[in-house]
Amino acid sequence: MTNSIQACLFDLDGVLVDTAKYHFLAWKRLAAELGFTFTEQDNEKLKGVSRMASLDILLKVGGIELNGTQKQELAERKNEWYVEYISQMDASEILPGALAFLQQCRENGLKTALGSASKNAPMILRNTGLTPYFDAIIDGTHTSQAKPDPEVFLLGARELGVNPENCVVFEDAEAGIEAAKRAGMRCVGIGTPETLGAAGLVIPSLESMTLSMIKKL
Ligand code: BG6
Ligand code: MG
Repeated sequence: MTNSIQACLFDLDGVLVDTAKYHFLAWKRLAAELGFTFTEQDNEKLKGVSRMASLDILLKVGGIELNGTQKQELAERKNEWYVEYISQMDASEILPGALAFLQQCRENGLKTALGSASKNAPMILRNTGLTPYFDAIIDGTHTSQAKPDPEVFLLGARELGVNPENCVVFEDAEAGIEAAKRAGMRCVGIGTPETLGAAGLVIPSLESMTLSMIKKL
């Protein structure tokens, strides 16, 4: 069957683990050092966005212009704080339903891949014990183009040896949904239809996901 689903590709932050809060703490701390307030609402704009693009958004909020070297230095500082937070993570921070669904996929012969913009993805997978649940791991160190570019998911499908049309992507960010669609894959949005309406199906969390739902995508 050409259209059957053979693989599931998962975004990490916001789909399998809730790291947005740690990104927020680190960006807020950086903004405070630079002399302005960075709100939780501002942080929403950073979901699914690469580290450097996130910094650009933050600097715009603060009305600050910097050169490349200064930006590099700030991104590194933010990342050091972020790594401090995520180094304390454990399995209790896996989002509801994520582990059970990964297990269900594998027990039923579906391949699984991670497709994340984060360069810290391997550490998060290790600390939460999720690493063994993936046949392929594509993170921010493997890609040259950020979502909504489809690169991360196309690389994942290639490593799994599965055609894009036989893949389904699980994403919580608008840019990720667009990336999945541009890759020619089906897509499930994790969140609300208001922001993720472009996905074939939108569910509040992986807790409400079953394999029979995949067949209907
Ligand atoms: C994405 C997050 O998964 O990874 C973004 O949603 C984050 O908020 C991006 O900026 C890059 O992460 P990192 O860990 O490489 O700074
Ligand atoms: Mg995400």
